Amino acid sequence: MAHQWVFWIFVLTCGRSVKNVRIVGGQDATPGSWPWQVALFTFGSSSCGGSLITNQWVLTAAHCSSFLDLLFTKVHLGHHNQLGLNPNAVTQTIEKIVCHPAHNPFTSENDICLLKLSAPVNFTDYIQPICLASGNSTFYNGTSSWVTGFGDTTDGGSPSNVLQEVNVPIVGNRECKCYYKDVTDVKENMICAGLKAGGKDSCQGDSGGPLMIKKDSIWIQSGVVSFGDGCALPMRPGVYTRVSCYQKWISNTITGTPPGFVAFMKTKLKLSIKERIKTSKTTSKSN
Ligand SMILES: *[C@@H]1O[C@H](CO)[C@@H](O)[C@H](O)[C@H]1NC(C)=O
Ligand SMILES: *[C@@H]1O[C@H](CO)[C@@H](O)[C@H](O)[C@H]1NC(C)=O
Ligand SMILES: *[C@@H]1O[C@H](CO)[C@@H](O)[C@H](O)[C@H]1NC(C)=O
Repeated sequence: MAHQWVFWIFVLTCGRSVKNVRIVGGQDATPGSWPWQVALFTFGSSSCGGSLITNQWVLTAAHCSSFLDLLFTKVHLGHHNQLGLNPNAVTQTIEKIVCHPAHNPFTSENDICLLKLSAPVNFTDYIQPICLASGNSTFYNGTSSWVTGFGDTTDGGSPSNVLQEVNVPIVGNRECKCYYKDVTDVKENMICAGLKAGGKDSCQGDSGGPLMIKKDSIWIQSGVVSFGDGCALPMRPGVYTRVSCYQKWISNTITGTPPGFVAFMKTKLKLSIKERIKTSKTTSKSN
């Protein structure tokens, strides 16, 4: 209620989608609505997702690197449909794979890799880079976010033919840690998103893809699909690599045009005592 969105834009050459018109969750995306989404194919099957962050670099998860191969992996950009025609798609190979040196496959910490494409791509309405959340970004519990991918549409099910999009709220780290305390330790370099009741989530095959937030027509990537306990289970939100913790590593790794880092912040205004009483009354009444 008494919250105010404060937003700074430093770079305006990223995060723009001219085709994005959808606003509800858990559905087929319209072609071109997520122009930074990439699909990573090795030997013809889609293994992971990723996001285009400059004209020659893709962000993905480190646990995807075992599926990647410099000779055989194809990076599909502007790709919408796994089986049908993709008139706007461009395919590239990978020249270099740079994973975070401190990636820990047991704790899933630092689950982040950068892929250098063999050649720069030309941007189109269907191929665009996304902005990245800068180091000083904050994402409070409940912030509306989107996640996209070609992964399974049910836990243990089959991958999706058409790119899927789903709207999920951020789950604050304290709450997320609590949900996962019997499974794993959710660290500060991770960010969670999902519904308490479950039903909306990323799943197998979506790994490496982006968790995103929109503000003022700019899309900012806040997370990289990393892990979860099952998919879309109640009180088991999806866990993502927190992109804002890696600004320095990303900047130091990427060559050529730098990615667009944007701070995403939400400030909580202090409530007066009167307002607090009003708020608590409203809350208890509506419960
Ligand atoms: C990008 O556009 C330039 C100029 O139109 C063209 O020469 C080049 O071949 C294009 N590159 C790709 C990868 O399509
Ligand atoms: C956020 O970080 C950027 C550098 O990435 C800096 O230019 C900006 O001043 C910072 N904003 C705040 C509010 O600290
Ligand atoms: C976090 O947000 C959800 C709604 O997205 C809400 O149900 C939950 O109570 C919030 N948790 C805290 C600790 O505020």
